[in-house]
Amino acid sequence: MRYFLALFAVTCVLVVVVAGRRGDASRRPPIEIWNDMDRQLKLRPQAVAGHPGWEDGRTSRRWVAGTVPRLEPVKVGGKEIHAFEDHPVVTGRETGKTNYVELNPLPVTEKFMARGKERYEIYCTPCHGPTGDGNGVLKKYGHGAIASLTDELRVKHPDGYLFHVIQAGSPSGLMGPYGAQVDPEDRWAIVAYVRALQLARLGKPEDLPEPMRASLK
Ligand code: HEC
Repeated sequence: MRYFLALFAVTCVLVVVVAGRRGDASRRPPIEIWNDMDRQLKLRPQAVAGHPGWEDGRTSRRWVAGTVPRLEPVKVGGKEIHAFEDHPVVTGRETGKTNYVELNPLPVTEKFMARGKERYEIYCTPCHGPTGDGNGVLKKYGHGAIASLTDELRVKHPDGYLFHVIQAGSPSGLMGPYGAQVDPEDRWAIVAYVRALQLARLGKPEDLPEPMRASLK
């Protein structure tokens, strides 16, 4: 028993000595007791040379002939913008910055708006409701705290932020991301439609052209 206690004490001290230094900043290389995980033969993905097993030496295989990209590039003014580029159309942010773009970068046409309405009704109505007030069918089933999209707060959000919420979900995570289901072009179409819902909800009689005002009830 005495030996055990002595050994136990020595082990405790050793553990504290070794583990207690973890996380400390040091300029010296760390002691590696088992270094086989730190230093191992490996191939870098996408390297163009170095693989002994393939004739061309590439570490990643080329795609099979006839492969099509999953995400079509977005066409803006005759240019194709791909999902990996740092361009507002696919990020919702100003190029080279993290600021959200203030305005929808795609031209808002009648067709675009119709597409936005269709996508909104598929992906957003269940929670946010057909008018965007947050009273979708899921509320009846007990989903609480659904944001109203026609609140002043959401009216003030830049278009790029709405785009971002559709892509990545709400900051608190209460609303999940829809980026996988709704591609960039459709996200902008939904943003345009959400703006239309806000206008419809918050518009004043003076916003209507003069001749139409008389028809208001
Ligand atoms: C499963 C339910 C659900 C669906 C579907 C859904 N949302 Fe939400 N959304 C929420 C909830 C809940 C919140 C409140 C989240 C919070 O408070 O963090 C929210 C918040 C938001 C906000 C406000 C975020 C903020 O920071 O103020 C926006 C904008 C929004 N949703 C847009 C959309 C759009 C556009 C769609 C359709 C693509 C959509 N949502 C689909 C549940 C949903």
